[in-house]
Amino acid sequence: MAEDLKITAGNKAEQYQSLIPQIKGLLDGEPDLIANMANLVAALKEQFDWLWVGFYLVRPSFSETFPGINEELVLAPFQGPVACTRIKKGRGVCGASWAQAKTLIVPDVEKFPGHIACSSLSKSEIVVPVIRNNKVVAVLDVDGSEYNQFDSADQHYLEEIVSLLEF
Ligand code: SME
Repeated sequence: MAEDLKITAGNKAEQYQSLIPQIKGLLDGEPDLIANMANLVAALKEQFDWLWVGFYLVRPSFSETFPGINEELVLAPFQGPVACTRIKKGRGVCGASWAQAKTLIVPDVEKFPGHIACSSLSKSEIVVPVIRNNKVVAVLDVDGSEYNQFDSADQHYLEEIVSLLEF
């Protein structure tokens, strides 16, 4: 496995197309999920220099009312500023993507009802659910420091990238 990531210039598709084989190389032969999530988000951060990119895992909540019964999103490997640790289903962009089991693209986070502002620098966002056996097991969240930073090309390639992870 190459130790250094090859950073590519060019349009968005060209950047993803150069990055994806390298991510496959990083994940190849490694069964540890946390290690693979960590390298995957590091590779994305290095190539695109987004404000924040990381995973939230669907985990049992420690709700005092129903301990162990409910689930919530819990912060997992990421790159960027410190972030909120737990997000409930349906809350914010991440919780909405989980609840709807679909990718959400938010051109202006201030216009998204219930958006959770982990950083005041975040202007736009894309959240991609990771679905295994018809269940959302995690989400990949990306924050941009500019409005309108994400589009259907990001959705296409990020959905492909999260499909590389074995849960
Ligand atoms: N903005 C997200 C919360 C997570 S942080 O951006 C890292 C949301 O609304 O779900």
